[in-house]
Amino acid sequence: MTEREAGTRHPSEHLMEIFLGGVPPLITTDLAKLEAQAAATLSAEAYGYIVANAGNGATARANRAAFDRWRLVPRMLRGVDKRNLGCEVLGTSMPAPIMIAPVGVQTLAHPEGELATVRAAAKLGIPYIHSAAAAHSFEEVAEAGGDAPRWFQLYCVTDGDVHASFLRRAKAAGFSTLVVTVDTPMLGWRPSDINRAFQPFLRGLGLANYTSDPAFRAKLPESSDAGVAAATHWAGMFPNPGLTWDGLSFLRRHWDGPVLLKGICAVDDARRAADAGFDGIVVSNHGGRQLDGAVAALDVLPEIADAVGSRMTVLFDSGVRTGVDVAKALALGARAVLLGRSFLYGLALDGQAGVEHVLRCTLAELDLTAALSGHAGHQELSPASMVFR
Ligand code: FNR
Repeated sequence: MTEREAGTRHPSEHLMEIFLGGVPPLITTDLAKLEAQAAATLSAEAYGYIVANAGNGATARANRAAFDRWRLVPRMLRGVDKRNLGCEVLGTSMPAPIMIAPVGVQTLAHPEGELATVRAAAKLGIPYIHSAAAAHSFEEVAEAGGDAPRWFQLYCVTDGDVHASFLRRAKAAGFSTLVVTVDTPMLGWRPSDINRAFQPFLRGLGLANYTSDPAFRAKLPESSDAGVAAATHWAGMFPNPGLTWDGLSFLRRHWDGPVLLKGICAVDDARRAADAGFDGIVVSNHGGRQLDGAVAALDVLPEIADAVGSRMTVLFDSGVRTGVDVAKALALGARAVLLGRSFLYGLALDGQAGVEHVLRCTLAELDLTAALSGHAGHQELSPASMVFR
């Protein structure tokens, strides 16, 4: 049972729990400052991989700046005592339109990595999206997450047997929905990693789904060092710059549940995804980790939501740090919002408890934002709730 099912009425009641408990939280509740607090706990390599961005970080900064340009216009006396943030996205119920973004190699942030994250998400009923590049396998994560909702994110590598096997395993392990990340035909130019000659996957990190996979293992070259063999074999199938729209046709042969494309920033690509029959998209620029100089994700959200929002599910991530950010993305047309680095900073700071803290604070702030702006739920948020400055 999630906490909400167990009786929490409104997420903002978390505030009273803190005040009445009288114990100052270990982790800041100023969610935009999580990065600075987490930075102090991360090794230089982990900091470089997690916090830093592609290029000189222009797109990551643009992501944040885009949120600041929108301002909510609070409305008064609307009776917001019966707020409801609960919703359903592609058959998955959630207590609020918030999900855990797929993030690879979470053991860089904390030794328990994805297991801590999925336990925290399960406790609050927030759907967890498992990265193909995770440090724990589908099966380990499924066991840790129990009955809680979970989706799976696939990177299309060049070996179709591995796709088929991943999708089979994901289904068997209870992952309901597939997210295919399309903004990573190659890894972006990330100076922080390059300067340290640090690539987690080539060090054997983040390959748990692969090294536990029969199709991947079947083609491993002979080697006295299994770790080196796995990393080298993986590097031979990822990246996959030749991937095209036609190349995605295999998905329907191996997956009968909903499929979304993650990493869409162009209206024409969104239309093409809808025309091709995909169930949804995640408007995202990978948090500014892929193409530096790319447009801020929030800046393209309204036009994309306008163009395809009635035909498919539009989700959003990139630059979301606070409950207010979530409210703004919802107002601009997202059905739900994925948290990326914000939950990861909580993980770095205090494992499962840290992720729970970030989720509780984000939910509480979203709930308060809805109330203070005069909305009884996220469904009432719309572009008319804001002005652009
Ligand atoms: C990511 N992201 C990501 N996306 C994906 O589809 N598969 C993955 O394995 C990863 N791995 C990953 C690792 C790390 C360390 C980060 C920070 C991000 C991108 C992620 O899903 C999401 O799009 C961004 O994190 C959103 O931007 P913010 O919220 O971090 O600014």
